[in-house]
Amino acid sequence: MAFYHKLGKFPNPKHTAFYKEDGTLFREELVSTKGFSGIYCNKYHVHAPTQTLNLKELENEENVDWKEAPLQHFHFFTDKVKSEGDFFTSRNCFLQNSHCRMYTAHPTSNPNYFYKNAYAHEYIFIHHGSGTMLSDYGKFAFVAGDQIVVPQGTIFQLMFESFDNNKILIVESDTPYEIPKHYRNEYGQCEEHAPYCERDFNLPEFMEPVWEKGNHRIVIKAKERIFEYNQPQHPYGVIGWDGYLYPFSFNIKSYHPKVGRIHLPPPVHLLFTTQHFIICNFNPRPFDWYPGAIAAPYFHSNVDSAEVLYYVEGDFMSRTGVLEGSITIHPLGIPHGPQPGKTEKSIGATHTDEYAIMVDTFEPLHPTKNAKACLDEKYWQSWLEK
Ligand SMILES: [Fe+2]
Repeated sequence: MAFYHKLGKFPNPKHTAFYKEDGTLFREELVSTKGFSGIYCNKYHVHAPTQTLNLKELENEENVDWKEAPLQHFHFFTDKVKSEGDFFTSRNCFLQNSHCRMYTAHPTSNPNYFYKNAYAHEYIFIHHGSGTMLSDYGKFAFVAGDQIVVPQGTIFQLMFESFDNNKILIVESDTPYEIPKHYRNEYGQCEEHAPYCERDFNLPEFMEPVWEKGNHRIVIKAKERIFEYNQPQHPYGVIGWDGYLYPFSFNIKSYHPKVGRIHLPPPVHLLFTTQHFIICNFNPRPFDWYPGAIAAPYFHSNVDSAEVLYYVEGDFMSRTGVLEGSITIHPLGIPHGPQPGKTEKSIGATHTDEYAIMVDTFEPLHPTKNAKACLDEKYWQSWLEK
């Protein structure tokens, strides 16, 4: 995150003795990025965070490569692939490359363990469902539309309130999610022209630390491998912390879209950047107003990026046949654009009510066997003119 936040109690100055009532020390942990040069926080634990009773590797069935997937445009219905489980175990991977993995999940239970992604940052879009995000930084409520950013190394849980209709989209990144540089001034504050500002972010709130020791299970993801750690200290035994590194959320409905006299390209819808891909939010907005302006996008070739759209809500103006929960991927080097009739229909149109999330990766993305299982078989032929 790009600004300072603090919760609970901590000593001043830092790195000084901070005693509990029984005369023993709280344990300080610096959680830092880019070695010691990136953003960081200082956390104060009631017990040392380094204690491990046991560890073992767990089986992971995530190897879902679809090696023979052809180079073509794909459309698939992610709601047709469902697995039982919690916010982690119910995930199904649909697209992947060496920097990024995209999953959807339909959680049907809450975890009785703690989860940490040791090698990746997680962006979690709450499509349907509500509940509480618990973490070693505190807690915050989540509702449909929230986009939760969880820094690599955070111990957390998503606890849903009910299990009749939950759906989440997860994008793993090997580099941090950041607010685009051109949205921020030289001091890091969001500029007036940015599509959101700091007050739109939902930040962790203080959670009473758990003092009791026990045998707590942490499931740790390390790319395709999963490990189980057992530790005596409770992961949420944190009396206080301060700094710039923490999870937060931003609701897609709080995004203020930009519009132009003629068609503006997707970078105006930018939400977050990483080093290897970007995420955009498409929101309801008035259309271009110049006489004869074509609101639908022109045909385009992404010669060096793969373009993924996750369809959230509304009538997506340039696509035929997509449903809520659909994903389309238009790979590098093949032109795409509106299907027949969509360009003409957009001339003179006044607005769109679409909500969608776009992920543009700078390296090819590979569809998995899960994508193959729910394909719209004829999508790649949907541009044929009658
Ligand atoms: Fe496109």
